[in-house]
Amino acid sequence: MFRGSLRGGLKTNAMRNGAARGTFALGAFALTCLAGAAQADGDAAKGKAAFVRQCAICHTNEKGGDNRFGPNLFGIVGKKAGTVPEYTYTNAFKNRANWEWTEDAIGGWMMFPSTMVPGTAMGVFQGIAEKDRDDLVAYLATLK
Ligand code: HEC
Repeated sequence: MFRGSLRGGLKTNAMRNGAARGTFALGAFALTCLAGAAQADGDAAKGKAAFVRQCAICHTNEKGGDNRFGPNLFGIVGKKAGTVPEYTYTNAFKNRANWEWTEDAIGGWMMFPSTMVPGTAMGVFQGIAEKDRDDLVAYLATLK
């Protein structure tokens, strides 16, 4: 009786671990592909032009730059979300955005801000086209 349930328990645990490992490996693989694509294909000079066209109306990019409608984006890659000094984020953003801005995360955010954070003030921005994503990410990574 006891041995039976012990063996049953072990087996279930092993299966659970196996499933978790599989999911993790798949996630890591997908992230590696995305990150690889961003690094391989991004053209920072094109990204800068796209930033001026699409982001600069709401964001400054230089060190110590003003916050506009959106926060200053100097050093944003690698920064914890929602931590630009003296900028007042929406509650939606403060409650939801508890991640660090990796290149992948920023790529997703620029395309789908309202999907990542429903109710964000950046939701008034329609989002970038996928073709500009890698260039913009490459450009944002130079802001340090
Ligand atoms: C219409 C104005 C507007 C435009 C255009 C816009 N943003 Fe934003 N952005 C915001 C606002 C407002 C926030 C703060 C969101 C909140 O508090 O809900 C924000 C937040 C962000 C954040 C998170 C900052 C942090 O401190 O965590 C990043 C990254 C960002 N924007 C990048 C961009 C990029 C890159 C572009 C251009 C492709 C862009 N944004 C275009 C208004 C804008």
